[in-house]
Amino acid sequence: MDIDTSRFSFAVLTMSDKGSRGEREDTSGPFLQQLLEQQGYISKNYAIIPDQVAQIKEKLICWVDEERIDLIITTGGTGVAPTDVTPEAMQEVIAKEIPGMAEAMRAASLKKTPNAVLSRGMAGIRGNSLIINLPGSEKAARENIEVLLPALAHALDKIQGGTSDCGS
Ligand code: MTE
Repeated sequence: MDIDTSRFSFAVLTMSDKGSRGEREDTSGPFLQQLLEQQGYISKNYAIIPDQVAQIKEKLICWVDEERIDLIITTGGTGVAPTDVTPEAMQEVIAKEIPGMAEAMRAASLKKTPNAVLSRGMAGIRGNSLIINLPGSEKAARENIEVLLPALAHALDKIQGGTSDCGS
């Protein structure tokens, strides 16, 4: 049986030094918001912040521990530039990693670009929430999230203790 996606809230967090200073328009964040709304998920928050571990951690912890948002999608800061620190913040925030999600995104992305290997994005669980890192460009964000959409509602249901049948 299909899981009702409107049970789940989500928020989008864009990591971009230039974007946070208003020097670059963030198209990835609004794109992801629209896509997840189309899938039936309920939009609760959106923010754009600089590539700083402390700020990323603070926002993720607030959205999970205080706002109880079920799904947080981040975009940007996953690469290998000196400023890219999204995975370093994630490591300090999540309790359990879900390696298969990142593996699947990189495997599918490798069919689109050899640069897919440069994304260090992670997926993991804090509390009852799922946090997923995507690369920063709108194209990369779209190509990565598409891989996970079919498993997203089942993942959220399971994380929250649901007993739906894994075989269906
Ligand atoms: N994955 C897909 N599917 N499509 C892309 O265009 N770009 C890559 C990679 N993953 C890309 C992709 C590039 S060029 C980089 S540098 C890394 O994601 C990290 O991106 P980020 O630093 O913006 O997070």
